[in-house]
Amino acid sequence: MTVVPGSPRSRLDPEPLPRRDWLGLASLWSAGSAMLFALLGSMRLPKAAIVAAQSKGFDVALPESLRIGEAFVPPNRAVAVFRDAEGVYAISTICTHLGCVVKPGAEGFECPCHGSRFKPDGAVSRGPAPRPLAWLKVTPGDGIFHVDEGKTVPPGTKVTV
Ligand code: FES
Repeated sequence: MTVVPGSPRSRLDPEPLPRRDWLGLASLWSAGSAMLFALLGSMRLPKAAIVAAQSKGFDVALPESLRIGEAFVPPNRAVAVFRDAEGVYAISTICTHLGCVVKPGAEGFECPCHGSRFKPDGAVSRGPAPRPLAWLKVTPGDGIFHVDEGKTVPPGTKVTV
């Protein structure tokens, strides 16, 4: 079909889109596509889940044979429970250096990982541990003691029995 200059264009032969307009439309389409794919991608991201934390409190019955100053370590707990003439107390056995479980002994506590030593009251006697072992809250019950690993108390806090 030939177009005569000055004659109106047919609907079947529309005026060509100027290059500038075509580039503008192309950039609009690509920006819209990018936002659509970003939205779809964000919908596929894992969702945050709220999981109930395991209770950090537990009950412990001290054996009658437990001697004064001797540590009682309940199974599967990082806590040493003691009884002396002033009462019952619990000290965390989590090393304050990098979190290894320390071993209670007659001289206090010893960390197997990097050699830190702690006195029987949890104070640091040899580094690299930067802080003393934490004392934990103990609540007396009916013949038992409730120890809360999530709550610390000032060193020297004992529950009288
Ligand atoms: S974790 Fe105990 S000394 Fe490093």
